[in-house]
Amino acid sequence: MKHLLKLSLALFIVLITACTKDTITEDTPDEECTTAYTYDADIATIINNNCVSCHSGTQPPRLTTYSEVFNSIDRVKARAIIEKTMPVSEPLSDSDIEKINCWINQNTPEN
Ligand code: HEC
Repeated sequence: MKHLLKLSLALFIVLITACTKDTITEDTPDEECTTAYTYDADIATIINNNCVSCHSGTQPPRLTTYSEVFNSIDRVKARAIIEKTMPVSEPLSDSDIEKINCWINQNTPEN
């Protein structure tokens, strides 16, 4: 009987873990990106068109160069990819969100 109890506990833990994993996958779309994206070729355009109008002067964080974006990458990901609360007016397009997310998953290459 004790054995059965242990077994169900183990199963319970496995199930909980599986569910948690699902949630994470939903929050960060397309973890298996096959296209290689770089800052200069892909990401700079998205940031310049959608973020720099506000984030190039007094509004932190500054997002005008690779190193500025890189230094704030955790917050950029949080606001533009996960919470989708930046840009202020409306979220980025799905394809732009996917590109930035891929680029982050590929360790934010510069060129
Ligand atoms: C219309 C102006 C505007 C645009 C465009 C804009 N932002 Fe912002 N952003 C703000 C303002 C205002 C704040 C401060 C208030 C807040 O945090 O919501 C802010 C704050 C932030 C912060 C810091 C706050 C935190 O949670 O750490 C980050 C990171 C950020 N924006 C990222 C972005 C990114 C990435 C884009 C483009 C995809 C973008 N923003 C586009 C106005 C803008």
